[in-house]
Amino acid sequence: IYSKRQQIAEAIEGLKAKKQSVGLVPTMGALHEGHLQLVKKALNDNDTVVVSIFVNPTQFNNPTDLEKYPRTLDNDVMLLKGLSDTRIFVYAPTVEDMYGDNPVSEQFDFDGLEHEMEGKFRQGHFDGVGTIVKRFFEIVKPHNAYFGEKDFQQLQIIKKMVEKHNIPVNIVGCKIQRESDGLAMSSRNTRLKPEFRKAAPFIYETLKTAKMHFGTKSANEVTEWVENQFSGHDLLELEYFIVSETETLKPVKRKMDNKDYRAFIAVYADDIRLIDNIALN
Ligand code: PAJ
Repeated sequence: IYSKRQQIAEAIEGLKAKKQSVGLVPTMGALHEGHLQLVKKALNDNDTVVVSIFVNPTQFNNPTDLEKYPRTLDNDVMLLKGLSDTRIFVYAPTVEDMYGDNPVSEQFDFDGLEHEMEGKFRQGHFDGVGTIVKRFFEIVKPHNAYFGEKDFQQLQIIKKMVEKHNIPVNIVGCKIQRESDGLAMSSRNTRLKPEFRKAAPFIYETLKTAKMHFGTKSANEVTEWVENQFSGHDLLELEYFIVSETETLKPVKRKMDNKDYRAFIAVYADDIRLIDNIALN
C-alpha cells in the first residue's frame, strides 16, 4: 500500500524495467463487486495491477456529495486481499499529494463529449476526472487501464483524452455489474434508505423495456414513454433520459441502421443520484 507518488512511481518503474506489464484500475474506493471485476480483468491481462483509491475533490460539483462520499480504505484493502493475489499494489494518496494545497482542474477539450449528459448536469465534472486520471497515468505509466461501462461517458472521454494527448496506454472498457435485482452496483447504493433501495431496481427495469420499445418506436417516443413511467413514481425522480449515438454521445434525432445507440439515465432517489445505461442495438 502506497500513499506517496514518488514511491509508487519507483516501485512500478522497477517492475517495468523487469519487463512486467502493468494494469491500472482507478477508483474512488468504497469498493464493491463492480470494482473487483475490473481488478480481476486487470490481473488476468497484466503481470502487476495498481488500484488507485482516491476521492477526487475536483470532480464533485456538489459539496455535500463530496463530504458524504464513503471513505472505507481498511475495508477496501480487505476486499482486495480477499482476491488472494500478491500482484496488487494499492495507491491511496492524500489530496495534498495529488494537488498540493490548491485542488483545481486542468481544462480539457473532449471534442464535445463533455457537453452532453453528465457534463450538462455536473458542471466541471469531466475536467476533474480528466485531471486526476491523466495524473495517475503520468505517475503509474500503465500499459492498460480499466474503466467500467457504468460510467459510459467517462469511458468515452478517457479514450478521447488518451487519443488527443497521445498518452501511451490501452483503455479497456468493462461491462456493468449489477445487484441480483438489476440495480447497477455503485458506492452510492449503500447510502440509500431501505424504501429507496427497494424502489431503485425500477431504473434498470425501465431501461430494459425502453430497449424493447426502441425496436419499433422513435427515440422521442421512447423518451416520452420513460418520462411517463417516472412522472407517476413516488420515490424516484427522473433527471434525464437520453437516447444517444454510442460513439459521439450526441442525442439521436432519427435512427439510422448503421449506427449504435445507447440509452442513458440519471435518477434521484431521495438526495442520492443514480446513473445507468444500456446498449439499444
Ligand atoms: P468510481 O466511481 O469509484 O469507479 C471506478 C471504476 O469502477 C470506474 O471505471 C467505474 O465505471 C467502475 N465501476 C463502478 N461501478 C461499476 C459497475 N457497477 N460495473 C462496472 N464498473 C463499475 O469512476 C470513478 O470512480 C472516478 O471518476 C475515477 C475514474 C476513479 C476518477 O476519479
